[in-house]
Parts: sequence; C-alpha cells; structure tokens
Amino acid sequence: MTTNTPNTTNTTNTTTTLSRVDAQKKRAADYAVARIETGMKVGLGTGSTARFAVAALGARVRAEGLKVKAVPTSEATRQQAEAEGIPLVGFDTVDRLDLCFDGADEADARLNLTKGGGGALLREKVVAFNAAKFYCIVDEAKVVLHLHAFPLPVEVIPFAVKIVEREVRALGAEPVLRRRAGEPFVTDNGLWILDCKFPPIREPPLLARAFAQIPGVAEHGLFCGMVHELVVGTDDGVRILKG
Ligand code: A5P
Repeated sequence: MTTNTPNTTNTTNTTTTLSRVDAQKKRAADYAVARIETGMKVGLGTGSTARFAVAALGARVRAEGLKVKAVPTSEATRQQAEAEGIPLVGFDTVDRLDLCFDGADEADARLNLTKGGGGALLREKVVAFNAAKFYCIVDEAKVVLHLHAFPLPVEVIPFAVKIVEREVRALGAEPVLRRRAGEPFVTDNGLWILDCKFPPIREPPLLARAFAQIPGVAEHGLFCGMVHELVVGTDDGVRILKG
C-alpha cells in the first residue's frame, strides 16, 4: 500500500541548506521521529539517514522533555545520541522495543532491504527484529525493483572467511572483503564484512535462508518481512509504503 503524506514534521529550519538527497533523508527521518511518544523504548539506526533522525529525536528530548529509553545500533550512533542528550540503555535491560528507525542501502517493492553499508547490520537486525514497529527511512534513490546494485554486506567470523567466500560464489555472487586503509574493516562486533555482488535478487527470502545455512556467517544484510513502514523522503514530503 502506498500513501503520500506532506511533510509537516520538520524539526529544524536547516532543510533549505541541505542537498536534495539530504533533504529527502531528513524528511523521512522527521516523519519517523514524529511517531515517537513519551515512554517509548526506541532503537536508533546507523548511517547518514539515521543520523538525521537521531538529531531530530535529540531536539524533541530537549525541547519537549520527551522521555525515551534508546538502544543504539552502533558505537557511532551511541556517540551521537549521547551528545544529543538521548537517554540510552543496554539491550540487556529491555525486552521489546516499541519502535526503531533505520536507513537502508536499497529497498525493493516488497519492502525487502539491503543493509550494512555502514557495517552495523548485525546489531541493526537484532534491534529491528525486536521492535514492534520498524520505520525504514530512505531517500527516493534507494527504492528499486529488485535488490542488486548495492553489493550485499555479509558479516563473517574471520576464521571462516575463506569458506564463506567459497559458499558465496556457489550462490552466484563475487565476494569482496571490505577494507579500510588496506586492512580488513572490523565491525563493532570484531568481525569482517564481505560485500557480495549478486545479479538482481528476485527472491530475497530464499537467499536469506541460504545464508543462514553457511557456518561462519554471523549475519547478512538482507532484511525480509521486517519493515512496518518504508518512509521514502521526496522533494515535498514523504511517501509511505506498507507491507
Ligand atoms: C548501516 O550499517 C547501514 O545498514 C545503513 O542503514 C545503510 O547503509 C544506510 O545508510 P545511509 O542512510 O547512510 O544511506
């Protein structure tokens, strides 16, 4: 289902200074943050779009005295949330979250997602799985017919990386070990990432099940059946897609 909603939730006056894409991200972020009510337990995503939402949530906490307990999905988000004055709790102190927001690298028409471009996919999936409502916030360019342009991030245990690479090739993709300054990129969990370039993924749930069978895969970036609302920022508001 698709509905169009004008943007009425701008929390700051900075939109005019943003690039077109950033303005779309911010509109989506503001929509999600407007759904947060006092007393809620909230999952905080990672990435440039989630960053707008964390800033908007911080603004509401300070301006309205909004009371939330938040769980960040990465160390980067934890640092930003702390600086914003958002109360954080460990995931071991809460059970279900009421709501979480997070970006995506791609979203298909059936609301399957590719995530993990920022390397935080494992915690992002744990948080999204445990949230009653997952608002996925994206700019228009992220919405595709079939996932494929963005290589699928797969978080692996370093000990098993060669085995996982072999199995990824057997699934039809070419894996590339993500590096930073020449060294393997290390996630917040101390693990590595294989970026796996697949042809168009027509059945993401089937591929997700195949990855679940590979020992050494800690998590993969396919998020299937998890989105409550896909919030697409547009040039004049947001477009809402529901599962
Ligand atoms: C972080 O690991 C990712 O899953 C991000 O959610 C994703 O890469 C989207 O990031 P942007 O909002 O920066 O595009």
